[in-house]
Amino acid sequence: MRLRERVAIVTGGGAGVGRAVALRFAREGAAVAVADIDAAAAQGVAEEIEAAGGAALARRADAASLEDGRALVEAVLGRFGALQLLVNNAGLPSQYRAGSELERWDLGIEQTLSSAYRMTTLALPVLVRGGGGAIVNVCSIAGNRVGGPDWYASAKAGLTGLTRSIAASEGRHGVRANALCLGVVETQRTRFIREDPAARRALERRTPLGRIGSADEAAAAALFLASDDASLITGQVLIADGGFTIA
Ligand SMILES: NC(=O)c1ccc[n+]([C@@H]2O[C@H](COP(=O)([O-])OP(=O)(O)OC[C@H]3O[C@@H](n4cnc5c(N)ncnc54)[C@H](O)[C@@H]3O)[C@@H](O)[C@H]2O)c1
Repeated sequence: MRLRERVAIVTGGGAGVGRAVALRFAREGAAVAVADIDAAAAQGVAEEIEAAGGAALARRADAASLEDGRALVEAVLGRFGALQLLVNNAGLPSQYRAGSELERWDLGIEQTLSSAYRMTTLALPVLVRGGGGAIVNVCSIAGNRVGGPDWYASAKAGLTGLTRSIAASEGRHGVRANALCLGVVETQRTRFIREDPAARRALERRTPLGRIGSADEAAAAALFLASDDASLITGQVLIADGGFTIA
């Protein structure tokens, strides 16, 4: 129970990595606010947590909306009375194809980078008032090497910069911030790779561990960064990619 008596917000907690993080944090004792633009998905995960004996709050919230974020933080304080952990996980899928490249840039930066900045700005005063906490920003190896569309690589690289900036300014207030850079993880948005045998084989051949990561493995890394096991670690980028970026 590494997160006993902690309260966490997980953005995009209704599916994939966010869902796995929400479930894992709850298993480790945290009360979890599952925030997602998909209300039914958030509700489903909160119900899973409660069915397992945990405490959860489901909330429809667009992580990029200040209004939704404010209401989310208020709801968390109203229900649990505290907040120590924020996982900025929500973001536009790199495969998003609607609109022009310029439109995708604006939307991608908004949904993937500005969303994390806004949620951080809203949560920080609460974390500081409560004596500290931890922020985990879910990034991608596309942000520290070449890969993905321009907006995605830039938003994720920007998120690692934001992580360091927050870590530097908030460390004295007891707040740690770290980035978790993921390689390909099995979620709905990477189904297209898993369903293409040639692409999957090529990826597995290129990855030292020889396989795609699971959402549970991503959640385990997020748990480490959020827990006191990482009490001396802040402003860092933890890469969880099966070794893909060293090969
Ligand atoms: N899956 C991968 O291979 C992979 C690799 C690197 C990084 N990541 C990062 O991990 C994070 C999660 O990805 P995933 O694969 O679990 O995605 P997913 O599509 O499986 O789930 C994302 C969830 O976030 C929600 N969401 C989307 N935009 C939102 C918003 N603005 N506000 C609130 N909720 C929102 C969706 O409704 C969905 O429930 C993303 O930031 C992604 O960039 C994923």
